[in-house]
Amino acid sequence: TPPSRLTRDQKVRQLTALREEIGDCTRCKLCQGRKTIVFGEGNPDADLMFVGEGPGADEDASGRPFVGRAGQLLDRMIVAMTLRREDVYIANVVKCRPPGNRTPESDEVATCGPFLIRQIEIIQPKVIVCLGAPAAQFLLGSKKPIGVLRGVAGRYHGAHVVATYHPAYLMRNEKAKPDVWADLKKAMALLGLTPPPKPK
Ligand code: URA
Repeated sequence: TPPSRLTRDQKVRQLTALREEIGDCTRCKLCQGRKTIVFGEGNPDADLMFVGEGPGADEDASGRPFVGRAGQLLDRMIVAMTLRREDVYIANVVKCRPPGNRTPESDEVATCGPFLIRQIEIIQPKVIVCLGAPAAQFLLGSKKPIGVLRGVAGRYHGAHVVATYHPAYLMRNEKAKPDVWADLKKAMALLGLTPPPKPK
C-alpha cells in the first residue's frame, strides 16, 4: 500500500510524538558521552532532506544539527541550490555525539537508524541527500565507500537518494567540490529546480 499523504499539521504532530518516544534515550552506549540528543530540525513538509553522520561538539552543545563549521558549509550548499535552510529538513544517522567524533558503530546505527527511518516516513521527502558514507551506506543498504556510492542514484521509501561527500570532508579536500556540486545539481533536477549558471 502506498504511504498515506500527511498534512503539514499531522507531520508536525507525528514528529513531536516521535521525539517524545525517543525521550531521554539510553538505548545505546552513545548516551554515556552525549550532552544533548540532536533529533533534527527544519521544514516538517520538506521536499529535500539532508542526512549527516552524527552530532559533533557544537551540535551536542546546542541540540541542533549542522551548526558548526560543517554546518556553515552545508548552509552555503543549500543556498547554492537556491533554497533556504528553513526549507529543508536536516537529520543524522545517529542522534547522539560519538566520542571524539568517531564514526558511528554498527550497533549504534542499528539502534538509532530506525528513528531516522520514522522521520523519513513522516516527512516523505522527494529527495534525500546523504552527506558522507554512514548516511549513504545506511540508506542505500551498502558497505561500499562514498566515492563509489556517490555515483549511484537510489530510492528509499519512495524518495530519491543522492549520496555525496560530507561537508567536513569537503573542507579538507577542495578538489571534491565539483563532484559535490554535480551531486547537488542531480538532487536539484529531481526536485524540478533549475541550477544557477555559476555556483560560488
Ligand atoms: N556532522 C554531521 O554529520 N552532523 C552534524 O549534525 C554535524 C556535523
